[in-house]
Amino acid sequence: MTTFGGFSRLFLLCFILFLCYAFITQPGVQAWSKEGHVMTCRIAQNLLEPEASHAVQMLLPDYVGGDLSALCVWPDQVRHWYRYRWTSPLHFIDTPDEACSFDYERDCHDPHGVKDMCVAGAVHNFTTQLSHYREGTSDRRYNMTEALLFLAHFMGDIHQPMHVGFTSDGGGNTIALRWFRHKSNLHHVWDREIILTAAADYFGKDMDLLEEEIEGNFTDGIWSDDLASWRECSDLFSCVKKYATESINLACKWGYKGVKSGDTLSDDYFNSRFPIVTKRIAQGGVRLAMILNQVFGDSQKNTVAAT
Ligand SMILES: *[C@@H]1O[C@H](CO)[C@@H](O)[C@H](O)[C@H]1NC(C)=O
Ligand SMILES: *[C@@H]1O[C@H](CO)[C@@H](O)[C@H](O)[C@H]1NC(C)=O
Ligand SMILES: *[C@@H]1O[C@H](CO)[C@@H](O)[C@H](O)[C@H]1NC(C)=O
Repeated sequence: MTTFGGFSRLFLLCFILFLCYAFITQPGVQAWSKEGHVMTCRIAQNLLEPEASHAVQMLLPDYVGGDLSALCVWPDQVRHWYRYRWTSPLHFIDTPDEACSFDYERDCHDPHGVKDMCVAGAVHNFTTQLSHYREGTSDRRYNMTEALLFLAHFMGDIHQPMHVGFTSDGGGNTIALRWFRHKSNLHHVWDREIILTAAADYFGKDMDLLEEEIEGNFTDGIWSDDLASWRECSDLFSCVKKYATESINLACKWGYKGVKSGDTLSDDYFNSRFPIVTKRIAQGGVRLAMILNQVFGDSQKNTVAAT
């Protein structure tokens, strides 16, 4: 077995490590980073009314101790498993390059053209599934726990501007650039870099402090007057279209604007985009709570679940 001498073995090991690395870092697999999703879900859970809060507790597995945010990244973890491969196109929307608009009929489909398979269709789908929860557990077509986790995750994704991006660059995934001194890409800047830079520069890397400041800004701060309009939703399908439209508009105005492959983004980009990122996390959390309060809450005022 001289062929498996030290060198070949090392080569084989390196090759296996490379495959693992390539798998983990595949472009397009990310969503709001773990941090973004956790903040969105914590903000939402803090705003739940008693009925919704109870339903969420009932649906979560015991081992998370009632903490929805612990499983908000689950859909990212399973999307490459064979059983959940169908969920992969549900994390984003590809819109025509430079169109800067979202048209459900035109854009909400998977790469094979299957209708509704995009993040807007998914939010609608899993909300509708959850709206049957109160009717009892007889409907075994759907797993209500999974529906909750998917909804919670996709409400984050639909608010991340670059998840409703251009087709040819995969929502900025193929726009390679530098974030300050390290290599990154435009999609990842919005998923994670801006959040991590803010946490490091302003909050001593404490995500809880960042989340508290975001919450402070909508309870009693710059966004408190906007809260009612963020929550407004008389027809779920129109609301979902509105969220996606907001994202592509922000992607054009702030995400792509002035950026090309090979650029280095630093202070100017960070300072002007950080407020957009935190506002989208706030909106995602507030609206997730609004939907959960409606589907699990008092049927008298239930409008979202009716659609
Ligand atoms: C809705 O969820 C079901 C599984 O519960 C799935 O089969 C279907 O593809 C989903 N559709 C969308 C648009 O999310
Ligand atoms: C629902 O999905 C969760 C997560 O995949 C799983 O652990 C659970 O067993 C499922 N429940 C049912 C009733 O199939
Ligand atoms: C909260 O609002 C203040 C302005 O009142 C702003 O300076 C700060 O960046 C905001 N923080 C977040 C996390 O959005």
